[in-house]
Amino acid sequence: MAAVNTPKLLQKWFPHTTSPFIANAPMLGFTDCEMANAVNKAGGFGFIGGGFDFKPESTQLVELDKTLSKARSIAGITSSTEPLPIGVGFITFSPAGFENAVTILEKHRVAAIWLSFPKADTDHGSLVKMIRDSQKKSGWETKIFVQVGTVQAAKEAIDEGVDVLVVQGTDAGGHQWAQGAGLMSLLPEVRDAVRAKSASENIAVLGAGGIVDGRGCVAALGLGADGIVMGTRFVATAECPAPEQMKQTIVSATDGAVSTVKSVQHDIFQSTDVWPAQYDGRAVIGVSYTDSQSGVTNEEVIQRYNDARKMGQDHRRIVWAGASVGVIDAVVSVDELIKGIQREVKEAAARVLANI
Ligand SMILES: Cc1cc2nc3c(=O)[nH]c(=O)nc-3n(C[C@H](O)[C@H](O)[C@H](O)COP(=O)(O)O)c2cc1C
Repeated sequence: MAAVNTPKLLQKWFPHTTSPFIANAPMLGFTDCEMANAVNKAGGFGFIGGGFDFKPESTQLVELDKTLSKARSIAGITSSTEPLPIGVGFITFSPAGFENAVTILEKHRVAAIWLSFPKADTDHGSLVKMIRDSQKKSGWETKIFVQVGTVQAAKEAIDEGVDVLVVQGTDAGGHQWAQGAGLMSLLPEVRDAVRAKSASENIAVLGAGGIVDGRGCVAALGLGADGIVMGTRFVATAECPAPEQMKQTIVSATDGAVSTVKSVQHDIFQSTDVWPAQYDGRAVIGVSYTDSQSGVTNEEVIQRYNDARKMGQDHRRIVWAGASVGVIDAVVSVDELIKGIQREVKEAAARVLANI
């Protein structure tokens, strides 16, 4: 069945955005409200990472509340009922206490909520309901984004009543489905699944994973997306709060097919191996990974990693990055990036038309 996109739905929901719709991924630890504001000012849609710990004593939620207050002031919002036109992303494999996050999101009237990486795809049903109940009670307008890496997860998210499916292919940087597929296969099938639903005209589809320029954006639109999400490309921007060494590693990497790898090992090395078994992560191959491949035990690699950190050395840092790192050759401003891609898509689309 042919793909039918939902023209300009995202621009209707988020009137400050221009076409094509470009959002930064809510990369926990690598986004902040200044960056999200810069993305918005350039015509994109800005997300920040909200965290994964929702317990009442969560320091992540205390920080989120402060960050959103700051975001409101940066955006020049004075009225408490005015919406905050940025989104917050959450990692949801330990959802206990999620209602505490919803209270903060409602208070700040954030325009979008992004859910990713549940223990079971169906776990998002109760979180979506909590958000919808809060909306009904308060009249708060927000859109729910769910990142999916399989067609099955997309179908469950559609049934749960989400607004936006972020279809994540395996070229993506950072965490993702260990067993997944590239956007070329996933996007058209997800678009067809959306089309088969009665409320399909109210669901938008975004492509994520390996998109770093206008060519990738046009490809995603051609496959059935209404817009795109980029993670790795936004890390290599001036406004991204990532360490400089991480940006330079991304800029200097070539040939992502050999310089990056999808593995659960990256989390083991940095002692963040708390993820459910269905997820792994793509990162630039670094010293820890090559040590491990040459037979060094995980215990020893972890020791070397921790020693390097204690000595303030950067060379063992895990640089989460997608398979398109080779195309990224400079740190640019968020404005240059978004406007540049929006210009490039026209040239790329013209080239496509010239070939058919
Ligand atoms: C440094 C980095 C951190 C990320 N952190 C998160 C996160 O906290 N939550 C999330 O849902 N996705 C996260 N992702 C994955 C993104 O949502 C997205 O799927 C991915 O960046 C798309 O691929 P790309 O990096 O090739 O653009 C992260 C990606 C990167 C590169």
